[in-house]
Amino acid sequence: MTETTRITTPFSATSTAAEVVDGIDLTGHRAVVTGGASGIGVETARALAGAGAEVTLAVRDLDAGERTANDIIATTGNKRVLVAPLDLADQASVASFTAAWDGPLHLLVNNAGVMASPETRTPEGWELQFATNHLGHFALATGLHRALAAAGGARVVSVSSSAHLRSPIVFEDIHFEERAYEPWSAYGQSKTANVLFGVEATKRWESDGITVNALMPGGIRTNLQRHVSQEDLDRAVAAAGGSGITWKTPEQGAATSVLVATSPLLEGVGGRYFEDCNEAGPNLPGTRNGVAAYALDPEAAARLWKVSAETLAR
Ligand SMILES: NC(=O)c1ccc[n+]([C@@H]2O[C@H](COP(=O)([O-])OP(=O)(O)OC[C@H]3O[C@@H](n4cnc5c(N)ncnc54)[C@H](OP(=O)(O)O)[C@@H]3O)[C@@H](O)[C@H]2O)c1
Repeated sequence: MTETTRITTPFSATSTAAEVVDGIDLTGHRAVVTGGASGIGVETARALAGAGAEVTLAVRDLDAGERTANDIIATTGNKRVLVAPLDLADQASVASFTAAWDGPLHLLVNNAGVMASPETRTPEGWELQFATNHLGHFALATGLHRALAAAGGARVVSVSSSAHLRSPIVFEDIHFEERAYEPWSAYGQSKTANVLFGVEATKRWESDGITVNALMPGGIRTNLQRHVSQEDLDRAVAAAGGSGITWKTPEQGAATSVLVATSPLLEGVGGRYFEDCNEAGPNLPGTRNGVAAYALDPEAAARLWKVSAETLAR
């Protein structure tokens, strides 16, 4: 962490992406939003484009990307909304994306993700959620490091989840080779990795003017729940207590990402975890918000960086 005071803002769980970026001029800024053709990625991209940024939707479904880009152009009047192919589970695809990127990059929103998928492995044998949610974004951000440094004051946004509370990084068996596969533990582990990435990346890249923060967007009904049965969702709602889950709209779900990407209140701040548009406090036992100590642990962050770099180099 670069500061010790917890960041608070005038915004809350019900704020929208458009509200948090209101009054901020991103003209001349270039942004990449992974998974920008679905769910909260669309509204994150729309808000950034609405504030004047050039936005590249980094997507694996190019038709969906083009449809989304046209929709954002129509609603914002900003014609600088581009689409580029990116499959985070395919290292060759990540490498092509970073090689093709030219010039500075001011905002990288690592938003794409897969949740609670059935046991699946990449051709390298990596567990899919860790490979997509963490390793793909790790390769992307490190591959774009020079472009981020060239922007002078770049920000990387690492979209995590309160599901990080389900699992630390199990360094002894990250890819579920020894233990039985459990989809929620795998998702939780990958989302802890998203927070730890921000801790170590900020430490390494602060001197290049790059800061990285993580966040929980809230609960939003999107395609993310495609692998979750109604039974599982009902169980999650019951576990959330009497009032159930308060779902956010995609515009509200994108607000914390956009705040972390653009708020002047986060100038020079990195390695932190936000939710509901404010920095989160520590998770308290029995609750489902706040951040786990293991997700901000600098030693685990350094170890994960090393393991990730070694894994990708194999
Ligand atoms: N929704 C929630 O309640 C919630 C809660 C906590 C955290 N989050 C986090 O928020 C982020 C966005 O989720 P969302 O709710 O907007 O879900 P979503 O609508 O399913 O969007 C996820 C995006 O990630 C993309 N993606 C998945 N695998 C990919 C890959 N291998 N390469 C490139 N892109 C890939 C998807 O592309 P395709 O359309 O091609 O599949 C999709 O565009 C995720 O990181 C998620 O973990 C969401």
